[in-house]
Amino acid sequence: MTTPAHVAIIMDGNGRWAKARGLPRLAGHRAGVEALRQTVRTAPELGIRWLTVYAFSSENWSRPKSEVSDLMGLLKLFIRRDLAELHQNGVRVRIIGARTGLEPDIAALLDEAETLTAGNQALNLVIAFNYGGRDEMVRAVRKIAEDAAAGRIDVPEITSETVSNALDTKDIPDPDLVIRTSGEMRLSNFLLWQAAYSELVFLPCYWPDFTTRQLVEALGEFAARERRFGGLAARGVAS
Ligand code: FPP
Repeated sequence: MTTPAHVAIIMDGNGRWAKARGLPRLAGHRAGVEALRQTVRTAPELGIRWLTVYAFSSENWSRPKSEVSDLMGLLKLFIRRDLAELHQNGVRVRIIGARTGLEPDIAALLDEAETLTAGNQALNLVIAFNYGGRDEMVRAVRKIAEDAAAGRIDVPEITSETVSNALDTKDIPDPDLVIRTSGEMRLSNFLLWQAAYSELVFLPCYWPDFTTRQLVEALGEFAARERRFGGLAARGVAS
């Protein structure tokens, strides 16, 4: 079976999972963190080398203040409590998203997670935090424009590689597979540039119900797809 090297996940449906049980939304997010923990443990066993998860989007700030604060609290707790285990298991943590304007303690934790795990190789866990694909592209365009204005780069020499290298995901391979849970079928500003040729798999289950079974199911669907990257099918090309 062809295993995707890089799987990216939109962990959607925590709120609906909680509502269906008559629980507060925070309970759904807590259960979501547990599903994430399990996925991080299972992914390398299934041959996945890169796992990117959408933890907090640049648009999530518009949620009620209390929910934003709950999500920040969960992220802090996740890094504080799980960092040692992640490190022990050889997980390298990287964070993508805008770093400016974050609370100093969160910014420090993100830096700590990246620095501590920089040498690990068992799994690359990329956490998209304060992330939005359009925002990432705007920041990249600014960077390239500044380089052009300062004479560090000639405009005709700008290629798609120049753009890739100016994104937060510099040195991270594009995702082969993007999974979204909860039945919604859209990208919601996630990895807009990077997912150009990704296979998309939409699962009906809410994120807290995502287990190894759903991951294996998504990998099976990926394996059955034929990736052409804009070219022709492998069969019949010769004639
Ligand atoms: C979508 O559910 C999920 C999120 C907005 C955040 C995902 C966060 C976690 C799984 C936990 C925190 C992450 C880390 C890394 C500690 P939703 O609230 O949009 O659900 P709904 O669409 O059913 O309301």
